[in-house]
Amino acid sequence: MENNYLDELIPKRDEFLENLRYKSSLEESYAPIVQKSTEQLIVTLLKLIKPHRVLEVGTAVGYSAILMAQNLPDDSSIVTIERYKKHADIAVDNVFASGFEKKIKVIEGEAAEVLHWLDGRFDFIFLDAAKGQYIEFLPDIMRLLNSGGVLLSDNILYHGMIEDEEKVERRKITIVKRLHMYLEEIMNNENLTTSIIPIGDGVALSVKK
Ligand SMILES: C[S@@+](CC[C@H](N)C(=O)[O-])C[C@H]1O[C@@H](n2cnc3c(N)ncnc32)[C@H](O)[C@@H]1O
Repeated sequence: MENNYLDELIPKRDEFLENLRYKSSLEESYAPIVQKSTEQLIVTLLKLIKPHRVLEVGTAVGYSAILMAQNLPDDSSIVTIERYKKHADIAVDNVFASGFEKKIKVIEGEAAEVLHWLDGRFDFIFLDAAKGQYIEFLPDIMRLLNSGGVLLSDNILYHGMIEDEEKVERRKITIVKRLHMYLEEIMNNENLTTSIIPIGDGVALSVKK
């Protein structure tokens, strides 16, 4: 749940990001971007972890990738995956306009496939794509996450539907079931330590052994 008072305490971003958030809120064809409270958590985590390699699943128009690029050490880089061509193209334009084209690489493609061929290790992974697919992504995410690396999974409370059965919309039943499976797995996986934080739409914060 968003809390207006607490949201108002969050410092404003630079003009570029503020404009991008505003534009995204007006454009119906744009995917929703990260909620402000979650965004502030991401910035705090990046300052804490100082990751060198970041992976994002779910670019949309590039807002969170640019936000992360602004808050990473100079020699860090971001790979971000987006399956919807229209979003990926807009994201590439936004990345260039932000001046972070050397830091951010947008890969257009279905994450389940891209994650499969992607290699290297990442110190921070932000999972923000189709919620029903998180469980399917997990084996590759585990392979790609460095030891000691951090995985942040967004929207895991899914508008209250995860905790309250009565709120589950009929057409969301499968997604909710899959998110339950995902949460049970990341809470019990012996290589992960996970906390669920009810911020924004709920995040799971995991650290790999
Ligand atoms: C909530 S938006 C991401 C918002 C972005 N992280 C931000 O805060 O600026 C989710 C995006 O993930 C993309 N997406 C969903 N499932 C995907 C998948 N399986 N592979 C790649 N992209 C996916 C959607 O097209 C959408 O643009």
